[in-house]
Amino acid sequence: MQICRSRQSVRDCVAGWRAAGEKVVLVATMGALHDGHMQLVAKARDWLDARGGGRIVASIFVNPTQFDQQADLEKYPRDEETDLAMLRQHGCDAVFLPSVEDIYRPGAQTVVEVAGLSRMLMGRVRPGHFRGMTTIVTKLFNIIGPDASTFGEKDYQQLTIVRQMVADLDMPVEIIPVPTVREPDGLAMSSRNRRLTPQDRAAATVLNRALDRGQQMVEHGASPAAIRRAVRAILRSEPRAQVRSVDLRDAADLSRVSRIDRPVVMLLAVRFGEVLLIDQRTATP
Ligand code: PAF
Repeated sequence: MQICRSRQSVRDCVAGWRAAGEKVVLVATMGALHDGHMQLVAKARDWLDARGGGRIVASIFVNPTQFDQQADLEKYPRDEETDLAMLRQHGCDAVFLPSVEDIYRPGAQTVVEVAGLSRMLMGRVRPGHFRGMTTIVTKLFNIIGPDASTFGEKDYQQLTIVRQMVADLDMPVEIIPVPTVREPDGLAMSSRNRRLTPQDRAAATVLNRALDRGQQMVEHGASPAAIRRAVRAILRSEPRAQVRSVDLRDAADLSRVSRIDRPVVMLLAVRFGEVLLIDQRTATP
């Protein structure tokens, strides 16, 4: 596995593969890798295998511009050695580990923002977060030039925004959606889980239970208001859960729904102590 610490070195590495006619998939991450990320790598490999093979490049970059709170950025877990060992073991071909200075050079003035989708839902809770995310994803696409890139469904709004950006800006990158990976007790895997206290970790399983109930209700034709009420009630039954938002939206474009006659997505944001967890579930009536 090649380790590329600068834009130039990853460009040279990918250029070599391209010259040999190989396809390239990017798995963009902020490190602190877990089995959910390894599922992104596995899906990248499936995508390549279905097209005659190719190369996977992962990026590890804790992107400062997508953190709205400096304290959150400072506390973000970093464990380069373990991350590299996991990527190597799962058959990644190269890793791009740029410095902040190499990515954000003095005098830069350009940002990329998907105006509507970025300002709703979690965009209201974390102002500027999605603008930072789309800016770094655009930069990674431009530096690496992948044919495809994986994005987890767990960050459903992020996935929807990236799809919109790629369509709006005619970016020649296929977006590969990857289903959420869960712990055996149902908690969605996230780098943030390691910051939960043991009590909060146990309490956080309430998110998956609430989503299970919401999904059943969608399938049985309940109204959006009744579903939101029931999901909130389950979340509130857990005293450690501080419910930040419960939303039910159109699964394709995140618009509001007054009646459920097409696939919807339930989006939860719940704080446990200092840690904000998000989770989602799509459901079809
Ligand atoms: O989902 C993430 O880990 C990040 O938002 C991403 C896509 C790597 C951009 O920094």
